[in-house]
Amino acid sequence: MSVLVTGGAGFIGSHTAVVLHESGRKVVILDDLSNSSTAAVDAIRSLTRPDLPFVEADAADSDVVGRVIVEHEVDEVVHFAAYKSVSESVEKPLEYYSNNVGSTIGVTRAMIENGVSRLVFSSSCTVYGEPDEVPVTESSPTGAVNPYGATKLVCEQLLVDVAAVSALDVMALRYFNPVGAHPSGNIGEDPIGVPTNLVPYLMQVAVGRLDRLSVFGEDYDTPDGSAVRDYIHVMDLAHGHVAALDSMVPHGRFTAVNLGTGEGHSVLEVLAVANEVIGISLPTQVAGRRAGDVERIWADPTLAAQLLGWHANRSLHEMLADHWHWQQKHPTGYRAS
Ligand SMILES: NC(=O)c1ccc[n+]([C@@H]2O[C@H](COP(=O)([O-])OP(=O)(O)OC[C@H]3O[C@@H](n4cnc5c(N)ncnc54)[C@H](O)[C@@H]3O)[C@@H](O)[C@H]2O)c1
Repeated sequence: MSVLVTGGAGFIGSHTAVVLHESGRKVVILDDLSNSSTAAVDAIRSLTRPDLPFVEADAADSDVVGRVIVEHEVDEVVHFAAYKSVSESVEKPLEYYSNNVGSTIGVTRAMIENGVSRLVFSSSCTVYGEPDEVPVTESSPTGAVNPYGATKLVCEQLLVDVAAVSALDVMALRYFNPVGAHPSGNIGEDPIGVPTNLVPYLMQVAVGRLDRLSVFGEDYDTPDGSAVRDYIHVMDLAHGHVAALDSMVPHGRFTAVNLGTGEGHSVLEVLAVANEVIGISLPTQVAGRRAGDVERIWADPTLAAQLLGWHANRSLHEMLADHWHWQQKHPTGYRAS
């Protein structure tokens, strides 16, 4: 089996590329490096094989994607390539629609033109918007509350429509909040610019790259007033992709599956565990609510257990310990300090 991983130099893609390699597949990575670097590719190679193929290209370019499919005899695709910041998407909606929808069209077109049918698509819990009820199941109402989430909903609908009239089979994995890193500490999350997610931000405070952690909102209707999310270890998530590919059936059309732990943790709870793991009390400040953020969300992961035989098993403590291990080994990420 040969698998194309678009966005494979990024955070989730790099971990998934390693686990796909371990599953016995030949992995080829395509990434435009808009939010990653060749150093990430080198680190992936250090955990897989030194000559793991990497193509620097835009996934929206279906001609290039098609050539990669032919050259590497690709049988299946995991499509991560997208922009992912909720707050940035509020400021730059055109860029988000253009890149996230454009890359999905490019990949899908290249697959159909070259007879590749198995696609795992990176979706997100943001498609549920601000849910009335938690946990959310795959049949909970969808409705994005920010442009990023809207791009994921548009892509899902596009894939439903294309799968209905082609041989394409799609598993859309709706990730909750991935954190952590590979246990080696060789690969991890390396945001370009100021991180917009909680854990990378607090890790950069811990290594002195940022002054203090801003807690966005202390007046939510949650037990401690801070926002609640379903944090999931990126290695659990990576294994979820292998389980998804392994369980796909021909003519399955389109299936959406939550990948989460089923447990919600507040920002303040995460901070407390991070302080314990790091061994200091990180400086914080309370800031106002941030545009596009929801109050609380966590997954019902029952369908993933039923369809994929998959469940998350790494704890919040393990997520933060592994993330800290990566950050300590790479205080400035993949870049030299
Ligand atoms: N990290 C999260 O919290 C989260 C949650 C839910 C869903 N997702 C989705 O998972 C996927 C991966 O997220 P991540 O956290 O690894 O992000 P990331 O930014 O670390 O990785 C995305 C990779 O895609 C590349 N890329 C972006 N646009 C591209 C294009 N047009 N062509 C080729 N490469 C392109 C970037 O350079 C980057 O390496 C994304 O689709 C994201 O929307 C992420």
